[in-house]
Amino acid sequence: MQKHTLAERVAQIAPFQVMAVLARAKYLASLGEDVIHLEVGEPDFTAVEAVAKAGVAAIQSGNTGYTAATGLPELKQAISDDYLARYDVAVSPERIIVTPGASGALLLMASLMANPGEEVLMPDPCYPCNRHFLIQTGANARLIETRPDDGFEMELSALAGHWNENTSGLWLASPSNPTGAVLSKAYLTEAWEKVQALGGHLLVDEIYQGLVYDGEDFSALSIAEDIFVINSFSKYFAMTGWRLGWIVVPEWAIEGATKLAQNLFISAPTVSQYAAVRAFQPDVLAECESRRQILNGRRLILLKGLKDIGLPVVAPAQGAFYVYVDVSSVTQDAMSWCLALLETEKVALTPGADFGIKDAHKYVRFAYTCDEGKLKQALVRIARFIAS
Ligand SMILES: Cc1ncc(COP(=O)(O)O)c(C=O)c1O
Repeated sequence: MQKHTLAERVAQIAPFQVMAVLARAKYLASLGEDVIHLEVGEPDFTAVEAVAKAGVAAIQSGNTGYTAATGLPELKQAISDDYLARYDVAVSPERIIVTPGASGALLLMASLMANPGEEVLMPDPCYPCNRHFLIQTGANARLIETRPDDGFEMELSALAGHWNENTSGLWLASPSNPTGAVLSKAYLTEAWEKVQALGGHLLVDEIYQGLVYDGEDFSALSIAEDIFVINSFSKYFAMTGWRLGWIVVPEWAIEGATKLAQNLFISAPTVSQYAAVRAFQPDVLAECESRRQILNGRRLILLKGLKDIGLPVVAPAQGAFYVYVDVSSVTQDAMSWCLALLETEKVALTPGADFGIKDAHKYVRFAYTCDEGKLKQALVRIARFIAS
């Protein structure tokens, strides 16, 4: 008889704690409760209509077979043109590998650059799936302690001290999930110089590119061609379910990345690729820009509102659609606090433990992915919960 034994790596992969919050929130909503969702990491917008229509047209005209493994040539060209137009950086289409979401790009990156037994450094807190993608390939993530008063940025002067013969590289994200912090060009340039001197690779996850409200919106590709960069249509273009992203690799990695793309995915979703070609046209970009301004309005409401109710935002929330908040003045355990807040006041948040290890029990992440009215109502409810 078959043994019901899973591969050992499965035990190393942590489930999202927010799932418990989400499941309870859904249950409460099914009972007719008015739950305010600030836990979900996806925009409350959908794909811009012209983009969705381009997807429909692809289906109707039968453009639904596999594409080239690294992506539709016209999409790669459109991404390349957009890098030049909006970020003033020349990226040849050959260096762009289109993937099923940034998730596909991260999996490809882990397979491409980390040997079994090697380690990749990343800041604590960071996007939780990063470490799981590495485990998947037999490598490991090492989370490096950061400090709230440094905006949770990894201290670069300490980088060499964390590096050893098993270290493969450094993975950063800007803007960051969960903090919304944006890394400066000076910081990323220094990170690149240090990583290069140590003989490793640098990956910058730019999935929230374009969603910057304060600070410089640039691409790490403008610093060096040898930096790996990941992006996606999920956030700025509000296309989470279309499952489309990309990775930009240096010239010397194109062949290896292509082999992996062929084998891991055959191709990224075809309909989504045809739709995404439309995404870089001026009318769509203008709509995305007006959404960015809406998000900024919400961000300012949240920052002020949280300050007023005595919950400090610990990192400069300059981008993405998150703020990371220290709740240690009101609880010793952010996870139970989130569950109690949901139960009592029907506001759903994500506990910090999903993103990090050190002091994660002190933090919660707010996603400002609901309208201003709901956001203000959530602040009133949280204030009442704290006062009770
Ligand atoms: C930092 C970061 N990277 C990657 C992803 C994966 O995004 P997707 O696969 O939808 O493109 C997410 C999703 O929330 C994220 O926050």
